[in-house]
Amino acid sequence: MRAPTALITGGTSGIGKATAELLHSRGYRVMVTGLGNVAGSGIPEDITAVRADARSLPDIDQATDEARRRLGSLDLLFLNAGVSRPGSIESTGEDAFDALFDINVKGNFFTLQKALPLLNDGASVVFTVGAAEGLGAAMTAAKGALLPLMRSLALELAPRRIRVNAVSPGMIDTPVYGKLGISREMLGSWARDVPLGRIGAPADIAEAVAFLASDAASYITGDNLTVSGGIGVHANA
Ligand SMILES: NC(=O)c1ccc[n+]([C@@H]2O[C@H](COP(=O)([O-])OP(=O)(O)OC[C@H]3O[C@@H](n4cnc5c(N)ncnc54)[C@H](OP(=O)(O)O)[C@@H]3O)[C@@H](O)[C@H]2O)c1
Repeated sequence: MRAPTALITGGTSGIGKATAELLHSRGYRVMVTGLGNVAGSGIPEDITAVRADARSLPDIDQATDEARRRLGSLDLLFLNAGVSRPGSIESTGEDAFDALFDINVKGNFFTLQKALPLLNDGASVVFTVGAAEGLGAAMTAAKGALLPLMRSLALELAPRRIRVNAVSPGMIDTPVYGKLGISREMLGSWARDVPLGRIGAPADIAEAVAFLASDAASYITGDNLTVSGGIGVHANA
């Protein structure tokens, strides 16, 4: 039987890396993209890792060409590359605003557009969303824009039985907090605000993505799976 295949953007760190490792351990052939030192990311050797800036259409072209060469076709496209720029309206400059929308929205949109010919009928597309109000209006808007995008694409791609969903992580312990200058102690202290009493692990999200990619989720499309330990439950009532 043919091994399933997955392309994961932002797969060199945190949630994307954990998902790549989980799927690889379950028999997927996996390719990941990242922005920085992909060779030094510690990803298992038989996972292809390429540098591709999600803001750059030529980079996206190159990455999807490489995916075609390495994997042939795709059963899962995990659109996970993203950046956080929390901040008030006063403190959000044009660079931060552009990075948020270029990487989180434009990059995901065009990666899916370029990868469409590679997606097998019945394939799964998963967006990483997850930004609650209170973290910064621009950041929440950039992530929030992915939800109507995801739902529209679920309808558009349904004739090919391609399912399009989102995962919305709560607070997940990845390098992103260090990049934002948030200490381990501060992150640990935030666990008190999580109903289930702990910060999430990248593997918590990886399991959700693996589920959405699997046949067990074959009747789920246009949906947003929140994986937050209970954060935000009151807002969903
Ligand atoms: N961790 C959380 O609590 C949390 C909560 C809600 C949503 N999320 C979302 O989850 C996703 C993954 O975040 P994470 O927490 O795992 O963060 P992370 O560890 O910082 O990983 C981010 C990944 O995205 C890549 N990336 C960043 N900018 C890129 C660009 N311009 N082009 C291509 N790749 C780029 C990074 O590559 P390099 O490492 O090479 O820069 C890295 O592989 C993001 O979309 C984030 O917004 C995370």
